[in-house]
Amino acid sequence: MMPVNQADQVVVHTYLGPSDERSLADDVLDGLTKPFKELPPKHFYDARGAELFDRICELPEYYPTRAERAILEERSADIAALTGAGELVELGSGTAAKTRLLLSALYDGGTLRRYVPIDVTERMVRDCAEALVGEYPGLAVHGIVGDFERHLAHVPPPDVPRIVAFLGGTIGNFTPGSRRRFLRRLAKLLRPGQDFLLLGTDLVKDPSVLEAAYDDRAGVTADFNRNVLRVVNRELGADFDVDAFEHVAFFDHEREWIEMRLRAQRRMTVRIAALDLEIEFAAREELRTEISAKFTPERLSGDLAAAGLELVDVLTDPDERFALSLSAPRQ
Ligand code: SAH
Ligand code: TRP
Repeated sequence: MMPVNQADQVVVHTYLGPSDERSLADDVLDGLTKPFKELPPKHFYDARGAELFDRICELPEYYPTRAERAILEERSADIAALTGAGELVELGSGTAAKTRLLLSALYDGGTLRRYVPIDVTERMVRDCAEALVGEYPGLAVHGIVGDFERHLAHVPPPDVPRIVAFLGGTIGNFTPGSRRRFLRRLAKLLRPGQDFLLLGTDLVKDPSVLEAAYDDRAGVTADFNRNVLRVVNRELGADFDVDAFEHVAFFDHEREWIEMRLRAQRRMTVRIAALDLEIEFAAREELRTEISAKFTPERLSGDLAAAGLELVDVLTDPDERFALSLSAPRQ
């Protein structure tokens, strides 16, 4: 049994329901009937996908998690002192593993009141909400099970200075145009003179390092990539032969992003029962499943400026692999 005082401190609101199978259905219909097939990345993260992502974060090749963690270990106390934040809103919070470094710094600084995690994976929001109120006495958690592209309006209004955190380089999964639109919407959650955006971005670097991070030797990323097909099979009654798709990851030099695809190893016809649809794949035809943009300092400051945000500080790890930027609405 959870002590009453802890239960009081946790609310979790769910904005995902049966209509979200529709969102998967719409995405599959739109994405797989185009000449160049494509699926959006948010559908990777069912329970198995979330578990595979945790394993990715531990891989020797996948440096972003360790680099971002190193920055937070080094600088969380400075971030807490500079912002004096009482509230942390986090998009794509996952298991909030690195977030604890920030929460601890705000807690130790005596300002922390509320944590607002937003994630599509219900289990993760609930488990981390319950764990965190135990770890930080007095902390209130307002969890949001939802899509950060559609449900930002449900973020409760702040009554103390807040940090909106978007970690892990997840912003890189947007295409450049939608990334700027999204940053503008995030900026609306911030009050000038009070609130800050804390944004994690992976940096442009040697392509062999980048490509290894998305194509590990143990094949965990490949398994994660193929997981989206399992989700479509289960949710929409499709019959993808998951093992017949090969994982492809490459750095696109012109666009400065890593692109992930699934390549059909033979010609096939896939039936998607819920959509009453048949999709043809030619042998070696590829389906794009994710892009992960890599940033230069210029691109980062340009994107933030376009959203009406001003850089306060850019923190990097000692090897300059990853950047954590703190920005605020232009006064
Ligand atoms: N912040 C964590 C996890 C990053 S992985 C870290 O830095 O390690 C991306 C997370 O975002 C996953 O937990 C996934 O479930 C969530 N996510 C992806 N797309 C989402 C969307 N559209 N809305 C809400 N959460 C999303
Ligand atoms: N979105 C994160 C990133 O771009 C997480 C991630 C790591 C990922 N490996 C992946 C997402 C493979 C999809 C497929 O780094």
